[in-house]
Formats: sequence, structure tokens, C-alpha cells
Amino acid sequence: MIPTDLKDILGDTYNDYFFNNGRKYSKILESEGILIFNSFINRKGLINLQKEAADLKYLSYQSSSKYNVYVSEYDNSFPDDSPRNRIMSTSKKCLPNDLIPSDSILQTLYNSKAIRSFFMDLLNKKELFPYSDPLSSININYYDKGDALGWHFDNSDFTITLLIKNCEKGGIYEFFNDMRYKDGKEDYNFVEKILDKKVPGTKVKSFEGDLMIFKGNKSIHQVTAVEKGERILVTFNYNEIEGIPLSEESRRTFFGRIK
Ligand SMILES: [Fe+2]
Repeated sequence: MIPTDLKDILGDTYNDYFFNNGRKYSKILESEGILIFNSFINRKGLINLQKEAADLKYLSYQSSSKYNVYVSEYDNSFPDDSPRNRIMSTSKKCLPNDLIPSDSILQTLYNSKAIRSFFMDLLNKKELFPYSDPLSSININYYDKGDALGWHFDNSDFTITLLIKNCEKGGIYEFFNDMRYKDGKEDYNFVEKILDKKVPGTKVKSFEGDLMIFKGNKSIHQVTAVEKGERILVTFNYNEIEGIPLSEESRRTFFGRIK
């Protein structure tokens, strides 16, 4: 059952029936690589979340990180400018979980049993757990003018995001669905075409209040630089195994501390 305080801020169609039928969406996620639930949060909820995010922004940590699209170690058997080793970058501000108040709607959403079991059903997971460290379970990400997320594959096989504020220009999510390990190995030629902007990806039009779930470990993706305004995206991060922290390296990079 969805608690009353959540019913008040969820879009009209997101009722108990909806959350009991997550399996219906598994096939779409599998074939499309992405699921978007429009207006998951209603106007009232958005106003609340936008105000909260604005009030907390001064506590966020500015990071700029460099990595290759595989987010793995440099491989010296490839040239520096190869798609395997080429350097991508991300810049954003991030607010870790321990600075999101316990009475925030975001905490209620993340901790709701009904919503978590909906995610488990549609992702075909037996269990989903929070991160064991205090920083990584819910994050509010702020992208100001010039901030961007360079091309990469995720380590996790799914990502759950909630857009609470959209920028006026730029900040577009672009991806290539399910293009990894086609013959059991990486397709460096295709990745090179993507990095050289020779092929266009699927661009996603998203709106404030949309909940998005995508399979980021098989689909290379980026978010283009924000050109005007501010983009605020919440990530709800879960683990299939209990008691797992985010790596210390990632915590240092995105939060500027490990606890
Ligand atoms: Fe990603």
C-alpha cells in the first residue's frame, strides 16, 4: 500500500494497482533500454522538491571527474585516443544522502516498500537494498551552465532517476540502446563513431516530475552540457546485495568525503 503522504504527491495514475503490476513493464525496459513514467510526481510534490533542492544546494559538492567510457583502468594495449582509452569528463554538484532530511519526500519514496517492490518486479530482482554507506543511496545532482555527463557505461545494470528541475536549453539525455557485447565483446568501432559524433543516438525528451529507469551498463549514454538554466536530477541507488558501500574512490570523487 502506498502511504497517504505519498499519494498526495504522486501523479494520478500512480496508485496501488500500478505499483502492484511492475512486471508489466519488464519487457519494455528489456527491449527499449529505458522506461519513462511521466508526471510521476505531481505539481504539488514538484514545488516541494524544487524548494528543498534549492535550499540544500549550498551544501552540495562540486566535482569534475575524468574517465574512459568503460569507467575502467587505462589499457596500454590501446592508443591514448582509442575509444578504449579516450578521456571523457563529467562536471556536476552532488548532494549526498546524509544531507537529505529524514522527513524529505525523497526519503519516503526511497524507503517505501510498495515502490521498492515495484522496482524489484520490473527489474526482475529478488531484493534491492540501500547502500551501506551513509552517502550513496539517494543523491541530488545539480547541473549548472556548462555542466555535463560525458559518454560512459554504468557499472550498475539499472539506474533510477527523478527529474525535479529541467534546464531551459541543453542537458539532453542521449543513448544507444543495448549495443554492448553483441558478439560477446566490446564494439570499439561503433563506440569510436559515437565519440566522433558520426552517428546520432536516441535523445530523450524529459519533463519535470518524470521517473526514468534505464539499463546503463549495456547502453552507452551521455547528458549534453546545460546551456541555459539549471537541471536537477535525483538518483535512487539500490544494491542487489545487502551491506555494500559505494567504492571509496567514487565517494571521494562525487561527495568529496567517504563518510
Ligand atoms: Fe550513467
